[in-house]
Amino acid sequence: MIDFTSRQIPKADIAHQLDCIEQIHRRNALRPEPPHFYCQTFGCQQNEADTERIAGMLAEMGYVRTQDAAEADVIVVNTCAVREHAEKRVFGIMGQYTHIKETRPDVTICMCGCMVQQEHIAEKIKKSYPRVDIVFGTHMLWRFPELLLRRLNGSKRIFEISGDPKGEIAEGLPVQRDAGCHAWLSIMYGCNNFCTYCIVPYVRGRERSRQPEDIEAELRQLVADGYKDITLLGQNVNSYGKDLGIGMDFADLLTRLDAVPGEYRLRFMTSHPKDASEKLFAAMAEGKHICHQLHLPFQSGSDAVLKKMNRGYTKEGYLALIEQARRYMPDLVLSSDIIVGFPGETEEDFQGTLDVVRRGQYDLLYTFLYSKRSGTPAAEMPDNTPAEDKQDRFNRLLQTQESINQQRQDAYQDRKLSVLIDGLSNGKQESEYTHCGRTDGGLLVLVRGEDLHIGDFVDVEIERTSLRALYGREIGKGYHG
Ligand code: SAH
Ligand code: SF4
Ligand code: F3S
Repeated sequence: MIDFTSRQIPKADIAHQLDCIEQIHRRNALRPEPPHFYCQTFGCQQNEADTERIAGMLAEMGYVRTQDAAEADVIVVNTCAVREHAEKRVFGIMGQYTHIKETRPDVTICMCGCMVQQEHIAEKIKKSYPRVDIVFGTHMLWRFPELLLRRLNGSKRIFEISGDPKGEIAEGLPVQRDAGCHAWLSIMYGCNNFCTYCIVPYVRGRERSRQPEDIEAELRQLVADGYKDITLLGQNVNSYGKDLGIGMDFADLLTRLDAVPGEYRLRFMTSHPKDASEKLFAAMAEGKHICHQLHLPFQSGSDAVLKKMNRGYTKEGYLALIEQARRYMPDLVLSSDIIVGFPGETEEDFQGTLDVVRRGQYDLLYTFLYSKRSGTPAAEMPDNTPAEDKQDRFNRLLQTQESINQQRQDAYQDRKLSVLIDGLSNGKQESEYTHCGRTDGGLLVLVRGEDLHIGDFVDVEIERTSLRALYGREIGKGYHG
């Protein structure tokens, strides 16, 4: 029999990390003032969740978080490689951080995440950023305490980027979540899809799912800690469980998690259309806590481009899928990702994308200009479309979506929605609307009313709408599930 739990990092190895945390803690406790750490995160929710782990480890070591890099003793930059722009921003900011070392040479500067997992980037840091102390890739995150201790003990600069490409799962590490109502909950790591434009499978390794009991235990803890809006995370949550061999798929997991009692909402991202199923939509529709929100990226509305992207579905197949989802959940809030200017994309291909946007009627779109990632198959494909043509397509796409967006927002006028208040609004002209929150579908609502509190579920009647937000008056309180 295959031992699937062998993918978990052995408890003894985790215990060693906890021991390193303890050693650093003892050292820090001797200082007259607690030292500080500063974290900056680029990239997606997975990276944000990883930063929460790093912050958790640093807090256990006795460091206090600061929002000012200049006063930090440890600086951690968690990087993203998905587009060139993200990488440029990271290198831009590194100059600033390494400058801090001129006056405070004891600062420890760390870089981690997807970008540094690439060999050529690690080499560049080695050569051009000599003040960076520790560079560790995505597979090495759980070993951060050991690496930091080594460096604090005087080791030379540390570069740890290899690790097991199949990846392993580390359970039992501390976490420091952002204060508020919202929490990330990773259910799986990595990606097996190898879309031809995408760097993620190379820097995050193969898909691996956490054990359902570990996920459920974390959810119970989050609910007990008062988190009300919990997002399950994975690059393709729809393939959850395939590697576990226990006959459980994502819909089963959702149903199991939904049974955890409490006043909270459960959402998830990202879904890959090729693995989304009717069973999933049924589970969403039946769930008590599961939000009617779906982020279902289609990337392109041309079958030829989809094939070259290795996406595994067709335009019409995709449109049928969202129709099915809406049959189960007529109030579904739908969003998507689109890439404009994939190598070889013609005007006709692009018209297909506009067609999906018009027929799909999305609440929100994340649109990207194709960015060449070295090492991916698409980087080798001929790409003769001039940059201005790509930019023109991009602009037309934004215009098309804007009018759809406005219509969809307008349709909420006078509707009554359940909103979780999650912050204070900072809009000056809208001072009457003192609070902000999210609907079940994730739409932003600015709320006015008496006695509003962050963390409350309230019923809101929508009074007016704009492209970015709905505006409403509180008409009742309470969680409906
Ligand atoms: N796993 C998720 C998304 C991961 S990356 C999914 O498959 O849906 C987030 C988005 O970045 C992708 O959906 C895609 O639209 C965009 N993206 C990824 N690689 C890109 C590239 N090379 N150029 C432009 N956009 C890219
Ligand atoms: Fe990238 Fe495709 Fe995996 Fe998403 S599914 S992370 S786009 S390879
Ligand atoms: Fe970026 Fe890595 Fe996420 S490349 S988008 S941070 S998985």
